[in-house]
Amino acid sequence: MSQRPFTLIQLSDAHFLEDPEGLYRDQSPDACLAQLKPALKALKPDGLVLTGDMAEDGSRPAYERVVTHLEGLAPQVGWIPGNHDDVDEMASVFGSAGYDSGPLLHWGGWRLALLNSVVENDPAGELNQDQLSLLDCLGQDPQPTLLFVHHQPMAVQSPWIDRFPLRSPEELMNRLDPQWARAVAFGHVHQIFSVVHEGVQYLSAPATSVNSQAQMERFTVDPTGPKARWFRLMPEGRWATGVISAGMV
Ligand SMILES: [Fe+2]
Repeated sequence: MSQRPFTLIQLSDAHFLEDPEGLYRDQSPDACLAQLKPALKALKPDGLVLTGDMAEDGSRPAYERVVTHLEGLAPQVGWIPGNHDDVDEMASVFGSAGYDSGPLLHWGGWRLALLNSVVENDPAGELNQDQLSLLDCLGQDPQPTLLFVHHQPMAVQSPWIDRFPLRSPEELMNRLDPQWARAVAFGHVHQIFSVVHEGVQYLSAPATSVNSQAQMERFTVDPTGPKARWFRLMPEGRWATGVISAGMV
């Protein structure tokens, strides 16, 4: 097995619209992602994981333009949906592009669990019995694992988004053991967040579109622009992570 670290980038909450000229929170989601792209390329990622809300309106053209933007960026792409996504359109476009919805990926000697937390017509999330059963299976093999889910399993102290969390997060947390579960990475919150809970790190990827300043009652635009989270995964289970911003090349 190669000892080279595996570089993974988590992209989240691109909020593309059907109209390529359309605006999300007064900014162009396409332009935001384009602005971030040189920094993403500079990391030479081995894989991308898209953690939902890649479209604001669930439209096919939005997903098609996401694929166009990400073309050639990494040899492998995994994805989960968010509350704004149309899962059927997303699966159709991303499936044709060769993107993988898992639910398990095996990258760089690690196991990645892609958990679908979407509940139809509900901005909050939940893990269904299939997802919980998957977690029970994972616990039987202590392979280093990263878990991805769209909704935040704990409050990020921003009331505007904490109204729409992952419900019943204890069903997730009680199934995780730091012996195998290294981190849970989520999107949805449009800000940077990281905390260790019972030996497992919970962290967010800020949006590739518009972010909010942290710990705000209402969405308050963060002027530092689009972002993404990177991970370097070592085969023996060590890992590192950080946030990348547009302009960091
Ligand atoms: Fe979301």
